Amino acid sequence: MLGKLIRQIKSHFEPRLATVEPLGKTFEVASDQTLLQGALAAGLAFPHHCTVGTCGNCKCRLKSGDVRSMTDASLTLTPAELADGYILACQCLLKSEVTVAVDLNDDSEAMVPAQYMGTIVATEQLTHDILKVSVEIDRPMMFRAGQFADIALPGFGRHRSYSFANAPVDGGTRQLEFMVRNVAGGEYTQWLFAQNRIGERFELHGPKGSFWLRPAEVPVLCVAGGSGMAPILSVLEDMLNKNIERPVAFFFGARQTHDLYCLQQLESIRQKWPGEFRFIPVLSEEPESSSWTGSRGMVTEFLNGDYASFDIAASHAYLCGPPPMIDAALARLQSCGLGIEYTHYDKFLDSRQLEVAENGVM
Ligand code: FES
Repeated sequence: MLGKLIRQIKSHFEPRLATVEPLGKTFEVASDQTLLQGALAAGLAFPHHCTVGTCGNCKCRLKSGDVRSMTDASLTLTPAELADGYILACQCLLKSEVTVAVDLNDDSEAMVPAQYMGTIVATEQLTHDILKVSVEIDRPMMFRAGQFADIALPGFGRHRSYSFANAPVDGGTRQLEFMVRNVAGGEYTQWLFAQNRIGERFELHGPKGSFWLRPAEVPVLCVAGGSGMAPILSVLEDMLNKNIERPVAFFFGARQTHDLYCLQQLESIRQKWPGEFRFIPVLSEEPESSSWTGSRGMVTEFLNGDYASFDIAASHAYLCGPPPMIDAALARLQSCGLGIEYTHYDKFLDSRQLEVAENGVM
């Protein structure tokens, strides 16, 4: 009896094995480690961001085995994702040996996040509240279009995450571009917008995130709002560079005409695109009296086959922007018949939302 109890207690504290498919890599996860911590300790570029169960970046599908989630995953994952067996790796302790499925390419080891030093070399005001920031880092970084980096300004307690707005380069690049929205009360953005910051140096950790174009032949549906334009531009420029010929419909939600930006760059992309390319800006608060003749309302209301020019159920979707927009888009796309496994998203949490996520306070 006592022997059985001792064996049970010992087994409780033993590391468990986790296998990541389709790569087929197996690693140990200590009893007090999350699946994500075990994967990162094993050197895998396992996608993640917030590490507190909020962003959904670390989601993966549990194919076998048993886990214990430390938080309620239904606050982050959709009912369809939960029903499909998705879990949050950053919140799960292993109760047994497990196998999970997550998108890791063969080149993921070359893209394990690392520390870089960056210098701001240029800035450009894109709208009244969005600044393009060009950064040069100390050595080339390889990343996938759509990913992001954590930026740690000296003297600030915590980092902030920003998506790359430029396309990656084979073999890596030292030139990075970010689009930063001026968030009310956000200490990083207030520092950045207060004066000319060219020449300022800071630490940068990346690349990170699972928001990147999956290989396929089907049309690509993009939905973005605010500074969520950045990773979509990176993806589109990368597709052009790689001669990827797929129809694209890019829905962009903004409040008013003065919130639209990068229109010339998008027009240039459209002209070079080998096939159908639609950019559909939708304004939610444009005055009725204005000369705007485009779409008005919430961007997610316009997600249908007529605007996209293809069957949404037979596309892959890439969503990037504020959480309410992402949640509305996920529900809309699901009602259009698009499977959750073909929907990739990156929720942009501002500093206040991150604080709530980490501390659980409003
Ligand atoms: S890293 Fe797990 S939910 Fe954000």
